[in-house]
Amino acid sequence: MNTASITRREFLAAAAALAAAPLLGTPAIARAASPHVLPPLPYGDAALEPVISARTIGFHYGKHHKAYVDNLNKLVAGTDMAEMSLEKIILATAGVPEKAGVFNNAAQVWNHTFYWSSMKPRGGGKPTGALAEKIDAAFGGYDALRKELTAAAGGQFGSGWAWLVMEGGKLKVVKTGNAENPLARGMKPLLTIDVWEHAYYLDYQNRRGDYVNAVLDKLINWDFAAENLTRA
Ligand SMILES: [Fe+2]
Repeated sequence: MNTASITRREFLAAAAALAAAPLLGTPAIARAASPHVLPPLPYGDAALEPVISARTIGFHYGKHHKAYVDNLNKLVAGTDMAEMSLEKIILATAGVPEKAGVFNNAAQVWNHTFYWSSMKPRGGGKPTGALAEKIDAAFGGYDALRKELTAAAGGQFGSGWAWLVMEGGKLKVVKTGNAENPLARGMKPLLTIDVWEHAYYLDYQNRRGDYVNAVLDKLINWDFAAENLTRA
């Protein structure tokens, strides 16, 4: 660990936080001195209304996501993971019982950042281009993919995530429990839907299916999935 690099990182993190926060109307990033920083939302707090309220975003991003970042920074401070990237921490701690706390917080930081980009204002509809071709090849069409995604999201018992992933050159739908994510299983995520109750309870109470359908119809960001596909 060297003082000069920490100082530079602190500066860059603080500069990024200051540049992004006022523009997006998101909370200022409080722990600029730590290695991991709450990334700015890709849109304003109210941009996903009426599907997801600004109130839900305020708690989900401003409290839950931020808490995972803060917890992770506390857990890795002074350890051999203090200088590791988020992805490296996830891979190094997945399936290691004594590192479960670090894994859970690191994976939840990554999962939420990925989730925010999996949605956009005026999203939804059907994917096109190379992604649509891959969907046709793997599922037989968008409608079948949609059925699998809603089944995965609805069928995840308790907290977790529904994902579209690439594995071995083929698209798949998978669900994961709690903080688990497909990176740790060697899969390449293309998009995700958060089905923890904190993602929808203020707006939909127990109606998880209504939340998932509304996200797929109005918010899902196929451009993001297509970009991830090119990196797969
Ligand atoms: Fe969440």
